[in-house]
Amino acid sequence: MTLQPVIEILREKLGLDPDSLGLKTVPQIVAGRQQVLGLTSGKDYAALLRRSTEECEILLDSLVVSETWFFRGGELFPYLAERIRKLASSRSKGQPVRVLSAPCSTGEEPYSLVMALDELGIPQSSYQIEACDINERHLARARRAHYGELAFRQTTAERRARYFRTTGPGQWELDPQVRAGVRFRQANLVSPDFLQGDAPYDIVLCRNVMIYLHDAARHQVIAAIDRLLAPAGLIGMGPAEPLGALDRRFMCLGPDGYFLYCRSAAAAAVSKELGITAPHQAASPGILESIATSVPVMPPRSATSSPRHDNPRPPRTRLPARAKGSTSSSVSEDLRATGPEDLCSAARRFADQGALEAAWEACQSLLTTAEPTADVYALMGLIQQARHEIIESKRSFEKALYLDPQHSEALLHLMLLCEQQGAHDQARVLRQRLERAGSRGAK
Ligand SMILES: C[S@@+](CC[C@H](N)C(=O)[O-])C[C@H]1O[C@@H](n2cnc3c(N)ncnc32)[C@H](O)[C@@H]1O
Repeated sequence: MTLQPVIEILREKLGLDPDSLGLKTVPQIVAGRQQVLGLTSGKDYAALLRRSTEECEILLDSLVVSETWFFRGGELFPYLAERIRKLASSRSKGQPVRVLSAPCSTGEEPYSLVMALDELGIPQSSYQIEACDINERHLARARRAHYGELAFRQTTAERRARYFRTTGPGQWELDPQVRAGVRFRQANLVSPDFLQGDAPYDIVLCRNVMIYLHDAARHQVIAAIDRLLAPAGLIGMGPAEPLGALDRRFMCLGPDGYFLYCRSAAAAAVSKELGITAPHQAASPGILESIATSVPVMPPRSATSSPRHDNPRPPRTRLPARAKGSTSSSVSEDLRATGPEDLCSAARRFADQGALEAAWEACQSLLTTAEPTADVYALMGLIQQARHEIIESKRSFEKALYLDPQHSEALLHLMLLCEQQGAHDQARVLRQRLERAGSRGAK
C-alpha cells in the first residue's frame, strides 16, 4: 500500500505533520479506514479523501486528539473575562468585544469563557464569542452541549452545579443561557479563506492544534490570526505552542502559564487597553530576566525556509550591563550560579514566554546541579513536544512519572500523546491514573 498520496492530502488539505502523529499511527489508521470502506488501493482512498469532506473529518478525528474540557488552563478564563470587562467598559453600545475560539472542538473552551463572564455579571450584549472547528460532528456535540464527567476535570463542583443540570449518572447538560453566548461554525484553519470577511477579533484562542501542524501550515495559521486580530488584540495558545518562538512579530504578555501573546509592536497598547502588565515592566527583572533577554529564541525546527521577521522583541527596561552581549556560555555560567528553585521557576518562565532554548538550558543546568525533579522532566517533555520531538518528549514525561507517579501535568500530556499515537490501552491506564491524581496542575 502506498501512503504517499494520503500523506500529501493530510499535509495540503489539513496542514497535518505526519511525523508529529507518530510513525505507526498514520499507516495503521489509514489501513483501518480502507478496510472499513472495502478499498484496497491507497490511491482510491486518496481520491475519496479529495472529494469527501466527511471522510477527511473521520480520518482527522482519528489522528488528532480532540479531547478538551471546561476551564482547560484554569484561571485563564476568569483572567480573560476581567480583560473583556475592561475592554467592554471603554466601548460604546453596539461595539461588542469579539472573541474567536478556533478550534473549539466540542465547545468546552468558548462555553468556559461565557461562564467566567457570567460570573462577573457581564451581559451577553457586551461581547460576541465565535467558535469554529473543522469537524462538523464536534460542532454538533458542542451545540447539543451534553457532557460527561471528564469534561469537568478542571471545574469546581460549585460551578458545575451552577451552570449544568444532570441528565443521568455522570451526564450533564449546559444551561441554555450559556449556550446562547456562543455561535458555532465549521471552518478549516489552514484554508486560505479561513473566516474571510469576519470583523476583527479582540481575542483569538488558538489552543492545542498547532502541535499537530507542519511548519508551513503553522505559518499559514499565524497569518490568518494576524489578519483576523484587532491591532491591540490578544492571542491564547497551548503550553507546547510558543507563538513568540514561531514568529517574532509576537511576544508573550500577561501572567506566566497563561500563554497569552500580542503583536510585539502593540505590546504597550495592549497592556494599556486590557490592563495587562507587560513582562518587561515586571517589578524586579533581576539576573533571570536578563538571561531571558540575552538568549536567542529558538527558531522553529526545519524552518529555514519559513518567513522570518525582523521585528526584535521590545528591549527590557532594566538590562544589567553584564547581560548585554552575553554569549551562550556566559548564560550557562549565570544559570549555574543560580539556586535550584530560582532555576526551576526561570525554566518555567522561559518556556511560558516561548524562549525554548533558554528554558532547555535552565533544565539542563538543573539536572547537572541538583537532584532531578518530576517538574523539570515534565517541563522538558513540553519543550520537546513543542520541538516535535515526540519520542523524547514521551520519555521525559515517563521520567517525571517515575519520580512522582501522580504528577498530573506529566500524566495528562503523556496520555494525550499516547492517544495521538494510537496507543489507546496505555492512554486508558494513564487516564485512570489522572482521574485518581485529580486535576492538580493540569494545563
Ligand atoms: C485538542 S482540540 C482543541 C480544543 C481547544 N482549543 C482546547 O485547547 O482544548 C483540537 C481540535 O482541532 C481541530 N482541528 C484540527 N485541525 C483543524 C483545522 N485544520 N481547522 C480547524 N480545526 C482543526 C480538531 O477537529 C479538534 O477538535
